[in-house]
Amino acid sequence: MCGIVGYVGSQSALDVVMAGLKRLEYRGYDSAGVAVQADGGLAAAKRAGKLVNLEKELMERPLPAGATGIGHTRWATHGGPTDANAHPHADNAGRVAVVHNGIIENFAVLRAELAERGHDLVSETDTEVVAHLLAEEFSACADLAEAMRLVCGRLEGAFTLVAVHADAPDVVVGARRNSPLVVGVGEGEAFLASDVAAFIDHTRSAIELGQDQVVELRRDGVRVTHFDGTGAEVRPYHVDWDASAAEKGGYASFMLKEIAEQPKAVADTLLGRIDPSGSLTLDEVRIGAAELREVDKVVIVACGTAFHAGLIAKYAIEHWTRIPCEVELASEFRYRDPILDGRSLVVAISQSGETMDTLMALRHAREQGSKVLAICNTNGSTIPRESDAVLYTHAGPEVAVASTKAFLTQLVACYLVALYLGQVRGTKWGDEIQAVIKDLSRISVQVERVLETMEPVRELARSLADKDTVLFLGRHVGHPVALEGALKLKELAYMHAEGFAAGELKHGPIALVEEDLPVVVVVPSPRGRSVLHDKIVSNIQEIRARGARTVVIAEEGDEAVVPYADHLIRIPATPTLLQPLVAAVPLQVFACELATARGNEVDQPRNLAKSVTVE
Ligand code: F6R
Repeated sequence: MCGIVGYVGSQSALDVVMAGLKRLEYRGYDSAGVAVQADGGLAAAKRAGKLVNLEKELMERPLPAGATGIGHTRWATHGGPTDANAHPHADNAGRVAVVHNGIIENFAVLRAELAERGHDLVSETDTEVVAHLLAEEFSACADLAEAMRLVCGRLEGAFTLVAVHADAPDVVVGARRNSPLVVGVGEGEAFLASDVAAFIDHTRSAIELGQDQVVELRRDGVRVTHFDGTGAEVRPYHVDWDASAAEKGGYASFMLKEIAEQPKAVADTLLGRIDPSGSLTLDEVRIGAAELREVDKVVIVACGTAFHAGLIAKYAIEHWTRIPCEVELASEFRYRDPILDGRSLVVAISQSGETMDTLMALRHAREQGSKVLAICNTNGSTIPRESDAVLYTHAGPEVAVASTKAFLTQLVACYLVALYLGQVRGTKWGDEIQAVIKDLSRISVQVERVLETMEPVRELARSLADKDTVLFLGRHVGHPVALEGALKLKELAYMHAEGFAAGELKHGPIALVEEDLPVVVVVPSPRGRSVLHDKIVSNIQEIRARGARTVVIAEEGDEAVVPYADHLIRIPATPTLLQPLVAAVPLQVFACELATARGNEVDQPRNLAKSVTVE
């Protein structure tokens, strides 16, 4: 949420910052702004709306050239998406410019104090107070990093701040508490950004910034200190994906590209996790086997799509390990005083590794003495750093706001965790584990096959573009798949879409069914527990009898559904528990196509942003 870029070097700061912002626009697109040091002062521009509005503004009124600058793309929290509320924010003399991601919870008190001291604050944001406080502190100490440390000491909440001062030439300062910020180090230049994608064209050499740290960027290096001024250990790492991973690569949208990348993402997530004897070797899971044998409860915390992955994981964990598993929305978790102790294993699932709700949930779990295992797609992000262990998904960067390939890889990681627990606890025999691994390793090709047969799904989606409502039904692991299908449609097509457990329909929701209402039904394999299959076939008949237009997702060879399917989408046969890996794919394609047919921009759905770093 909110994208931030900072640059010091010898290139045009404006070019570097604008290119970085383009890569970070997925984090928010309510407004954008930049500030550069030039001619002994600061020059700034900002505009409400997408980055393209700022680009137009800069074409019409170019800024003077400078080699030090900052930029921001906003997801609005305090104050609407207007020019005045756009970042950077400045002090009254226009000597400081600051950009911010997060929420400063005590901003009202600070604002009142500043007003009393004669400052004139012109926006509705919480950020503006920081510019004024920085100006005050800098006038006393003439050191921007020190001024930032002093200001941070007075702030409550979550924040990433990046600032420049006209009287601190060739210096950019950043600070971080509970919000992401990474440093890029190049030859004679340095970068700050919310995400490495912003500087990957320039350097792969990055530094993780820890909690409550301030970084000072100069051309010849970076210096990291804690908020109390003491030196901090610098933790460099190499970014191992290249710039093309953050480009559309010929696709009309990142979402289409990411849907197409799923076979590879699934295969990559399995890579290196099975030893030659067929046993699982999850080296990153640094929680000892003895401790895992003591676990008496698994609690999964996650949000949105990652939560749906968790709901599916519950079926596998309980079935394969017989350990009770709860799945909680991370945003609700700590407020209901969950029962946790040293024998609870908490699994935090997050693509970005920065979702504040999930982060707060895992902190709460660790405070209760529980071990936390993160399933995450982003190296070096906060959630894995604060967890006891991490299993990385290898989906590569996910840029489209709606999660697709990350979801499939989260599922793979969940299955691996479930099998691993079964392995160390001895609830699954080695040959049983190997059989599931074999099934999992076929999934990549099966997803590929699903993707090759999506044209009728796209056609169907286009034909439904003028509908108001679509319902989704599933049973067993198909239920979370139905929830995920509905979420994708809501967030992309802005339609009323709801997912239900098919058996629950008759307890109320069936009243929604009317003539020609599209209802998508995820049908379990008839080869698995046939009772599940038979029950859902009855459910399809019930809704069809009431006029619904049935869109049936069923395994190849399942002939029992044919008479009741107005539209039939075939998926390859998989074991019951693994079916979500193939069943989710047509639903992603369906939502993406339907949204496009309605004229929506699928990569940047309205009101949303990726990486939700506020609670
Ligand atoms: C929906 C979507 C979101 C995220 C959720 C959690 O398509 O992408 O629901 O799944 O915001 O994000 P992460 O996984 O980054 O914690």
